[in-house]
Amino acid sequence: MSHARPQRRWADQATRLRELVSGRREVTAPRAGARIIAVTSGKGGVGKTNVAVNLAICMAARGLRVTLVDADMGMANADLLLNACNPYNLSHVISGLRTLDQVGTMVTGDVFFVPGASGVDRMANLSEFERQKLIAQLRLLDGSADVIILDCGAGISPNVLSFALAADLCLLVATPEPTSLTDAYALIKVLVNRKLVAPICVLANFAESRREANDVQARLTAVAKRFLKYPIAEAGFMLQDNHIELAVRQRCPFVLRYPRCPASACMAAVAGRLAGSRNATRGGGLFRKVVGLFV
Ligand SMILES: Nc1ncnc2c1ncn2[C@@H]1O[C@H](COP(=O)(O)OP(=O)(O)OP(=O)(O)O)[C@@H](O)[C@H]1O
Ligand SMILES: [Mg+2]
Repeated sequence: MSHARPQRRWADQATRLRELVSGRREVTAPRAGARIIAVTSGKGGVGKTNVAVNLAICMAARGLRVTLVDADMGMANADLLLNACNPYNLSHVISGLRTLDQVGTMVTGDVFFVPGASGVDRMANLSEFERQKLIAQLRLLDGSADVIILDCGAGISPNVLSFALAADLCLLVATPEPTSLTDAYALIKVLVNRKLVAPICVLANFAESRREANDVQARLTAVAKRFLKYPIAEAGFMLQDNHIELAVRQRCPFVLRYPRCPASACMAAVAGRLAGSRNATRGGGLFRKVVGLFV
């Protein structure tokens, strides 16, 4: 079973994205093709899945070929937000019955979605071999995607760490709550100790104001710099917005259901920063900015 993507101006955009991220090749293993963004957090329930799903749609709306993988192993639920109903999921990939390409389908918002498995404890306890097999399969999507977004679980489980370490960019979602900040720092610390090379970008969620979001980013940036000597970039923020919960209840991504709500504006801005605006693709874009931190 294969799912052809609609033919659009993707070849050009793939080239642009590669140009955009080309600087990173100086500091990480050379690799062409799709960039992997791992959406992670220290504490659970901070909005990762909503960010991953809606960011995927916003990036697709910018003309990028986006693959979204529900990598919250054993507790997957991105399919609910997308109202997607696939017969196969990552558990079938692990058991060797299907390839990643075969379990994914095009879903609302022009995103190629690979569902995860829910309530399958085996998925939460994969062997290192199984994890690396899955990551190798992600690399095989290189030719058909410009961006691969992984909705990871929370915390520092081996699954989360493996995906984050394999990514080109870790998008760390944190909220102003002290527990979220502490857990976010713990995750950064473990990743840095494991010799992470990818940039970490903080997305402050549940912020009551831009000022509060800035405070979240400033705190994490400061502690990571002071204690770990690791630079952290800012991906943007998402305001606390009841439209998100309303959209979740309707099983529709909020950027599609409420495109004019504050959270949608925030999400579009984050997508713009990560992908680079049309006018700034050659010189702007967060991939390029964060590269600057490492050179
Ligand atoms: N900016 C926001 N404003 C208001 N509610 C939000 C916001 N972001 C997320 N939520 C709500 O927070 C809840 C958790 O969101 P979500 O499932 O995306 O978090 P998660 O980090 O993926 O959780 P888990 O760690 O369990 O996977 C949802 O009910 C969602 O509606
Ligand atoms: Mg989630």
